[in-house]
Amino acid sequence: MASEMSKDIPRHVGIIMDGNGRWAKRRGKPRLHGHRNGVVNVRRVLDEAKVLKIPYITLFAFSVENWNRPPAEVRGLMALLREFLRRETKTMVKENIRLRVIGDFGGLPPKVQAMLTKSMEDTKENNGRHLSLALNYGSRAETIEAVKRYAELARSGEANPDELDWQQFASLLYTSELPDPDLIIRTSGESRLSNFLLLQGAYAEIYVTPVLWPEFNEKEFRKAVEFYGLRERRFGKTGEQIKAEQPEPEEAKC
Ligand code: FPP
Repeated sequence: MASEMSKDIPRHVGIIMDGNGRWAKRRGKPRLHGHRNGVVNVRRVLDEAKVLKIPYITLFAFSVENWNRPPAEVRGLMALLREFLRRETKTMVKENIRLRVIGDFGGLPPKVQAMLTKSMEDTKENNGRHLSLALNYGSRAETIEAVKRYAELARSGEANPDELDWQQFASLLYTSELPDPDLIIRTSGESRLSNFLLLQGAYAEIYVTPVLWPEFNEKEFRKAVEFYGLRERRFGKTGEQIKAEQPEPEEAKC
């Protein structure tokens, strides 16, 4: 299927992994049980991304707003993240996956920072696939941080505000090394972006599914990618312009 679909495969998929709590509640289990199964699903989706040849995956794992959750849940999520890094780093090295973090890194617990630093260091030469974890991430905070950094450059004379363009501004965002997401998936039926990649996702296709994150399996992931393959991405142009830009099919040329 991957080769059949390859021309319509998104290069970068961002995922808002929602619904762990509800999944657990339906089973009469604590919320952390849902998060634990959510982490199991991360591996499943990474494996399927390999099959589908999707090189960039960005997962919204912890938002700046998530600190407001009950302290035990926050501690549990951080413990799951450490467990994930302990277990997955070797696999990422082996599978040529580079790990990055987008978000306010310095605001994460020191132990988590140390483990992330090691995993990023261990995978920094990898270039086959790219996993980015959005941790302590929020688009608005990211934008404000970039504006402050730009103001600093302007003050010191290293940048000229009259020449500021999107490319230069984008180079100051956490995602400076990543292409824009082509597809953003949100599980559990909510159709919000919740402060996730708001600027980078300006032209992303949005796929919303009622499926809860722990149940978002390979088949569901393929459905999202198929949805993407059927979209006509216009980037502000007309459908006719896009069609005219497409290369002629081989047989029409002879
Ligand atoms: C939303 O579900 C999910 C989160 C806030 C955390 C997502 C985190 C993980 C899947 C685990 C950590 C990730 C990695 C990569 C180690 P929710 O709890 O808001 O669900 P609900 O809306 O049903 O309550």
